[in-house]
Amino acid sequence: MTAPVLILGAGRGLGAALCDHFLCQGLPVIGVTRSPESRTLLRERFKGMGARFQVESLDIADRVASRRVIGALENKEPPTLAIYTAGYLAARKSLWTLSWDQIDRELASNLTGPLFWSVELSRLFLATGRGGHLFFSSGVVRTPRSEWGAYGVFKSAIEALSRQLALDLPPPLYSLSVNPGRMSTAMRHVACPDEDPSTLPTPGAVARRIGDFCRDLMAGSGRFHNGKTLSMEEIP
Ligand SMILES: NC(=O)c1ccc[n+]([C@@H]2O[C@H](COP(=O)([O-])OP(=O)(O)OC[C@H]3O[C@@H](n4cnc5c(N)ncnc54)[C@H](OP(=O)(O)O)[C@@H]3O)[C@@H](O)[C@H]2O)c1
Repeated sequence: MTAPVLILGAGRGLGAALCDHFLCQGLPVIGVTRSPESRTLLRERFKGMGARFQVESLDIADRVASRRVIGALENKEPPTLAIYTAGYLAARKSLWTLSWDQIDRELASNLTGPLFWSVELSRLFLATGRGGHLFFSSGVVRTPRSEWGAYGVFKSAIEALSRQLALDLPPPLYSLSVNPGRMSTAMRHVACPDEDPSTLPTPGAVARRIGDFCRDLMAGSGRFHNGKTLSMEEIP
């Protein structure tokens, strides 16, 4: 049986587009999204895929719920690639004008959730002798700009997390990050509400390029890219 791709943050935007891309290419996909509503929408959208598509709804920063899903993965064919598309931007503001509720939610989606899953999945990858992590960073990491508040801080930490995993994972395991660039998604609309979405790449177009790159990673180039922090222009 082909090992599945695990997509954390699959409900919409880039995550949903990557599900579509891999399923259309015949790969099994496990999607994780936060809200039951987005799980229902995904089930409906991919119902023709049968058992090749499985979806769970939970907050990836909820350790108890996440551990339950990871435990189930251990008893099946474990994923060969974990893709961390989950992300959250409350508002584009300076840190001190965000509420603690907003900062906590950004922390959970952008950092503590991916941290928990990547630590647990690394144990699973070590046990199975294969697997890799692909994180998504942001342009604000290389080019810091005002009013990207907590999101900018946590995206920098995601690149640090990926690099640390890359230094410590033995071959053939790997970890890398990609800045997907601007896309016409719900998150981008929060960041830039006055922007015309038709001027931006669609998540589907971005998913095609990243999805093809993921196929290469899974086919054996993962370790070659271990530790890299790539922009879309740098994807081979
Ligand atoms: N859009 C851009 O222009 C852009 C630019 C640079 C980087 N990025 C990065 O690219 C990635 C994808 O962004 P996007 O624009 O596709 O985002 P999006 O449209 O906001 O979609 C994010 C998805 O992640 C899920 N999610 C968020 N927090 C979660 C949590 N704690 N647990 C489980 N699921 C969670 C959401 O679930 P629900 O649907 O249930 O809320 C949603 O399905 C993110 O990491 C983002 O930071 C985006």
